[in-house]
Amino acid sequence: MDKFVIKGGPALQGEILTSGSKNAALPALAAALLTDEPVTLRRVPRVRDIRTMQRLLVDIGSKAAAKGETLTLHTPAIVSPEAPYELVKTMRASALVLGPLVARARSARVSLPGGCAIGARPINLHLTGLEQLGAAIRQEHGYIEAHAPEGLRGATVHFDRITVTGTEDLMMAAVLARGETELRNAAREPEVVDLAELLNKMGARVEGAGTSTIRMQGVEKLHGAEHTIIPDRIEAGTFLVAGAITRGDLTVTGCNPEHLGALIAKLMQTGAEITRPDPTALRIRVPRPLRSVDVTTEEYPGFATDLQAQYMALMTQAEGIALIVETIFENRFMHALELARMGANIRLDGRQAIVAGPRTLTGAGVIASDLRASASLVLAGLVAKGETVIDRVYHIDRGYEKIEEKLAAAGAQIRRVE
Ligand code: EPZ
Repeated sequence: MDKFVIKGGPALQGEILTSGSKNAALPALAAALLTDEPVTLRRVPRVRDIRTMQRLLVDIGSKAAAKGETLTLHTPAIVSPEAPYELVKTMRASALVLGPLVARARSARVSLPGGCAIGARPINLHLTGLEQLGAAIRQEHGYIEAHAPEGLRGATVHFDRITVTGTEDLMMAAVLARGETELRNAAREPEVVDLAELLNKMGARVEGAGTSTIRMQGVEKLHGAEHTIIPDRIEAGTFLVAGAITRGDLTVTGCNPEHLGALIAKLMQTGAEITRPDPTALRIRVPRPLRSVDVTTEEYPGFATDLQAQYMALMTQAEGIALIVETIFENRFMHALELARMGANIRLDGRQAIVAGPRTLTGAGVIASDLRASASLVLAGLVAKGETVIDRVYHIDRGYEKIEEKLAAAGAQIRRVE
């Protein structure tokens, strides 16, 4: 298993380029199942989760041709409408093939995701929604079987709670359903909006993406399309925090500042200076010691849960006490225990973490657990005295493309050890 070895200290300088969004690319790949014509996606990040989804689609019946960051998927027929446990257990987002398979093949057999490091992560809301669209759902041997022999029909689905992939799954089911579907209490994330744009390019009729109510008029058939994936706002946010924690002068390029409003506001409250040298770039400088500022994670456009771990690492270096509340997942503080081993002063109480700073961090051997917790350990290593060795970096490779190369190019002393 690969490790990262980081020598803390250097302030990051210069530019870091953002890759395409993993969480927009995953539903976009699944959407290719909805048509028998080729779908070409640009700026697809070369990360592990995308390779996993691509392998799943090929098992289902897609032909995949990748050239750099461009991926063309062509699914002339669904050969096996199934997502096996071996794949699903490594990537929960495999559930995103459920909606497209029921819509295109009128049947699906998808392994239940099982738990993951950050929480139970059930897909009950995906299943309830599919039932309301007319699918018969059965669960046995750890698999979900969904069948709609007469096809799906439009319905009004009200989500008990906001779910990002639940919204995306049902959008992809509804675009080929007979009649109109309305999704209420839908997720408003930019990745949902990007999926709607792709579906409409394929001939679907989706309105309201980005708001809590999304309407779809079902159509008979979808055709192929070409689409460029939006920039990864979580990767870009992670790099902004890297600039802040090392008190550098870092410009994150190729991003969409509109998608980072909550993080930008929060970082400016701590005392960071953030400017926009051009419409797709953010520059961060930290001219003075940072102040501790509380944060509560919320669905978009609130502060992203996927940036909570990174922000916690930053608060270990800020002056004062920061209260961090995680409202989305029930167990997303694993990074706190590792940060504490590096010298951070963090008190956990259920969904609340209290971070007292500034505390000098010292390099240590730490273990990555989930994708974003791992990113927070990299950030801590950038500022810790001495050497930090992070094991199991495959967690990081799931969602960050060559993170060590990007950070090293900005001055970080980080290297990958096979
Ligand atoms: C998406 O996961 C992201 N993944 C996650 O990013 C992100 O943390 C999460 O949204 C929240 O923003 C992708 O887009 C591929 P949810 P998702 O359904 O869709 C509960 C990363 O680091 N829930 O919005 O799985 C669930 O347990 C990953 O890139 C149900 O109870 O998250 C959670 O508490 C991590 N029943 C809350 O809702 C359901 O059927 C939000 O989950 C579905 C969800």
